[in-house]
Amino acid sequence: MVQEFEDAGALIAHIVTRYHAVHRQEVPELIRLARLVEGTHADHSEVPRGLADLLCRVQWEMEAHMQKEEEGLFPMLHPHQGDMGMAMELMRDEHDDHAARLDQMAALTRGHQPPEDACGAWRALYAGTAKFAEDLREHIRLENDVLFPGFGG
Ligand SMILES: [Fe+2]
Ligand SMILES: [Fe+2]
Repeated sequence: MVQEFEDAGALIAHIVTRYHAVHRQEVPELIRLARLVEGTHADHSEVPRGLADLLCRVQWEMEAHMQKEEEGLFPMLHPHQGDMGMAMELMRDEHDDHAARLDQMAALTRGHQPPEDACGAWRALYAGTAKFAEDLREHIRLENDVLFPGFGG
């Protein structure tokens, strides 16, 4: 079922500690850096205008989503639970929304590539958004392709 992990409980614990907690820790710092860069380099042709607002939206949407998983879905995922198909379908739909946000983020940051003359904060911001995007894609893959199929989702 969940070949990469001992059992579903271990996979869920990994998702919560390695992804949910890390997103919660990192996104506020990305918002702070994005506001700084957008403010300092407002006249630069490659400034990622709107990135801080996009990250705030992502933070809000992700927090609501992770709470649904932690408090609603994950505690119900055990062998004797009834059909949780609908709940997993809803989470998959939200994962699609999150992936669309990552596409918007990639467009705003030109694929997380800072311009030649970027300052340290700008480079740190894009290193952070690239890492966040990679983490979120792996987080979604673990849920969609490893965890949910083990429960018929
Ligand atoms: Fe999750
Ligand atoms: Fe999720």
